[in-house]
Amino acid sequence: MNILLLGSGGREHALAWKLSRSPLCKNLWIAPGNGGTRNNGTNVNISATDFDALAAFALEKTIDMVVVGPEDPLVLGVVDYFKAAPSLQNIPVIGPDKLGAQLEGSKAFAKQFMMKYNVPTAGYMEFDSNNVNDGLAYIDSLTPPIVLKADGLAAGKGVLIIQDKEEAKAALKDMILESRFGDASKKVVIEEFLDGIEFSVFVLTDGTSYKILPPAKDYKRVGEGDTGLNTGGMGAISPVPFVTEELMRVVEETVVKPTIAGIKAEGMDYKGFVYIGLIKVGDEPKVIEYNCRLGDPETEVVIPLLETDLVKLFRAVAGGYLGEEELEFKDEHCATIMLVSGGYPGEYEKGQHITGAYEIEDSLIFHAGTKEHDSMLYTNGGRVIAVTSFGKTLKSALETSLKNAHRIHFDGKNYRKDIGYEFL
Ligand code: AMP
Ligand code: GLY
Repeated sequence: MNILLLGSGGREHALAWKLSRSPLCKNLWIAPGNGGTRNNGTNVNISATDFDALAAFALEKTIDMVVVGPEDPLVLGVVDYFKAAPSLQNIPVIGPDKLGAQLEGSKAFAKQFMMKYNVPTAGYMEFDSNNVNDGLAYIDSLTPPIVLKADGLAAGKGVLIIQDKEEAKAALKDMILESRFGDASKKVVIEEFLDGIEFSVFVLTDGTSYKILPPAKDYKRVGEGDTGLNTGGMGAISPVPFVTEELMRVVEETVVKPTIAGIKAEGMDYKGFVYIGLIKVGDEPKVIEYNCRLGDPETEVVIPLLETDLVKLFRAVAGGYLGEEELEFKDEHCATIMLVSGGYPGEYEKGQHITGAYEIEDSLIFHAGTKEHDSMLYTNGGRVIAVTSFGKTLKSALETSLKNAHRIHFDGKNYRKDIGYEFL
């Protein structure tokens, strides 16, 4: 098959690595890709949201399948775009349609969906410019911390957790009336604060049947001990020690089944991944968020654990017979540590020369923000390289990643040395 993968991060490099290992994959193109994906296929300089250019490329190269990494093309309707054009509609696109992508694209939509299909989640209310004052009164009725969420996509920055009620009220006004997060915060969801430990579950679905991948946990804060600013993710582990088989059984019954039933009942054309962000409150898993794609850097630990041919699985998703497939996973621990640019998630410099990445043999090196020029590798983003390792124990997987994180160099390199700390 000729496959076109959209995106340019560590998630996409892990997907490119996995897809390219399939005997079913004849050619792989990545639009736009990064300095690592070029080792698994051919990078094409087309933005993942330039649908006209992607369509022309897909026809020119007789693409048989499009795999979408990030949320933006999905929320903008790449699936609907391909379905609408007679020349493209036979090319399956792995990802949900625009309606399904609203599970990530709109927090209010996702909350209404969870309420309608009885998916356990935090109680909430939604507010916009028509009822800001009701929002202020609602804040008064809550016990802090107060959780404020911009309705739309805000590059992972749209959630505020505020201890002080007056400060929360000011933030609400700022979001709705002063467009703090642009159009994304025209509407704001205020919800009950859930106190517990977080984990993520990824579900692959053809819209009817589903397969659950091993649970993962990501580390979002830039500083050790989960301190400092939020980032896209500084590392991840899979599986997660406290997520027992029993807890996964409860997640499947109370969260996954009603979610898939809702997707079907709403008529979503959902052939892709559902990312379910969960928080374990006591013994009960509750949903904090849905995303309409795989997580980054969780993909860098979950996909390497998958033994099954991913192209074969995607073919079954496209064909609507995923239920007939068996998934196999390595019986090992997987950990990834993200090397980031100095200053990230604030301002940082690009273009630093990277050395040591190609000499590593006992970790998988997934590029996130890198660029190759004249056979040399340079930083090209905040998150630069994910160092992924396997181990018989979580500890040994982490030790290998740490050793190799130390061996890759670029000016300003930063990484967390305590990924997985709470389980060691
Ligand atoms: P989200 O973008 O919805 O995943 O939220 C970002 C982060 O905010 C989550 O990963 C949680 O750490 C935190 N968060 C979101 N909603 C809640 C909540 N209701 N209670 C506690 N923490 C939350
Ligand atoms: N690691 C969090 C995300 O991908 O949204």
